[in-house]
Amino acid sequence: MAKVTVVGAGFVGSTTAMRILQRGLADVCLIDVVEGLPQGLALDLAQSGPIERFEVSITGTNDYKDTAGSHVVVITAGFPRGPGMSRMDLLTKNAAVVSEVTRRIAEGSPGASIIMVTNPLDEMTYLASEVSGFPRSRVMGMAGILDSARLAAFIATELKVSPLSVEAMTLGSHGEQMVPLARQATVDGKPLADLVDAAALERLFKRTQSAGAEIVGLLKKGSAYYAPSSAVARMTNAILGDTKEVLPVSAWVSGEFGISDVYLGVPARLGRRGVEEIVTLELDGAELEQLQIAASAIKSRCADLRL
Ligand code: NAI
Ligand code: 2OP
Repeated sequence: MAKVTVVGAGFVGSTTAMRILQRGLADVCLIDVVEGLPQGLALDLAQSGPIERFEVSITGTNDYKDTAGSHVVVITAGFPRGPGMSRMDLLTKNAAVVSEVTRRIAEGSPGASIIMVTNPLDEMTYLASEVSGFPRSRVMGMAGILDSARLAAFIATELKVSPLSVEAMTLGSHGEQMVPLARQATVDGKPLADLVDAAALERLFKRTQSAGAEIVGLLKKGSAYYAPSSAVARMTNAILGDTKEVLPVSAWVSGEFGISDVYLGVPARLGRRGVEEIVTLELDGAELEQLQIAASAIKSRCADLRL
């Protein structure tokens, strides 16, 4: 049976563990610095097994020895942005956590694929890649599936159609420099641009770009976790199941879209070897420019990490 370690037993980590178990994807090891937290959650999740009908196992621990031999490691450890905290403050605070966690994970699971979740996403993905020394293809970040699903959900609500009728894709960075692709957005195969006017299209894209902040504003404390954990489970399934699906993820770009040497949200084929191919779509001039601007901004924030 495959083994997945989830680092961080907070909201995203614990719901990710739940989704992996309920889909029977792998045995799960849930690890956190807080004593008792992963152990308590693991007991609770294991006790849902007879009801949810899964046979895969869950271990809760504070000891990295228990994570050894993982096929996939999901990193959710860190802090969300708090009141008065700048993006740079979060970058520095989470960089310390992500460096330490990645170092420990890489020792015991040298063959794993790493899925980064901790924010700021693209920069933390780069950091994990540098610290682990793993091939770039085995380190990636989760954001694009979440952002695309948010756009699809908003389109479905706007047009009063099933979310299953909608296709949507966003690229770029996880944040203000997200690039929603107009031509990739369709409803029952029809281009979204033929179904709504330009103002509605703009409104849907803007809402998607700030969808995470909209939820933070409503929750007051903490950020989203149901849709984020669904997105991580989808990536985990693609890697463990070697499905070769093309999904938008933060992946290392080497010349595609005229961009090099940066982790950036792009369409990527996922399989047993991690990111097996970056798939280049035809973008219009404005989309390409937005993607290149996002890439430059990520690069300069990665330089601020001063590794
Ligand atoms: P949370 O605060 O509920 O959980 C974080 C957990 O990390 C806590 O249990 C904490 O004890 C643990 N932790 C802290 N330092 C640790 C260490 N050194 N080793 C192991 N565990 C450690 O936060 P939540 O809501 O689960 O979010 C986690 C991260 O994911 C945040 O950075 C958040 O911004 C990010 N996020 C990213 C998304 C994306 O689309 N990429 C979506 C949602 C959240
Ligand atoms: C989100 O987009 C906070 O990155 C997190 O919900």
